[in-house]
Amino acid sequence: MEKTLIILKPDCVQRRLIGRIVQRFEDKGLTLAGMKLMHISRPLAERHYAPHKGKPFYPGLIDYITAGPVVLMVLAGARAIDTARKMMGKTFGYEAEPGTIRGDFGVSKTFNLIHGSDSPASAETEIALYFQPAELLHYTTAAHSWTDKPGET
Ligand code: RTP
Ligand code: MG
Repeated sequence: MEKTLIILKPDCVQRRLIGRIVQRFEDKGLTLAGMKLMHISRPLAERHYAPHKGKPFYPGLIDYITAGPVVLMVLAGARAIDTARKMMGKTFGYEAEPGTIRGDFGVSKTFNLIHGSDSPASAETEIALYFQPAELLHYTTAAHSWTDKPGET
């Protein structure tokens, strides 16, 4: 099963939206393989957002993601990366469609509540930044036989 790294950013935690957003992923049928709270350090944030280094919004982005605790999740499921990105919506809250997480909960460009890996390569790199392999659990749920058809990709 494909895996993706999701971060519920500091604004999501401060606004007490954790439960409502995790619920959406559970409802969709993605499975939690790992989950933890962390206050991301600046060096770790700089590694995570290295692809954005040098862009005008980079300093503000590092300030934002290190401003308070975040929830880190690894979600597993068929096409988990694209599925989660669709559920998140476009980057800027005012552009994100209603029905998406960013579209339903905010209008800000920067404070956009959630991060999701954007490719298999970035998912692998980002998961390894925050989780040891032993922290990821592989299991089936009671609903599994009706939510994940064997052999489907
Ligand atoms: P993310 O990496 O956080 O999942 O978001 P994304 O792929 O949708 O957007 P990306 O282009 O990777 O940008 C990373 C984060 O930087 C902030 N940002 N601010 N003010 C701006 O112009 C601007 N552009 C990007 C957002 O917090 C965005 O999530
Ligand atoms: Mg991104």
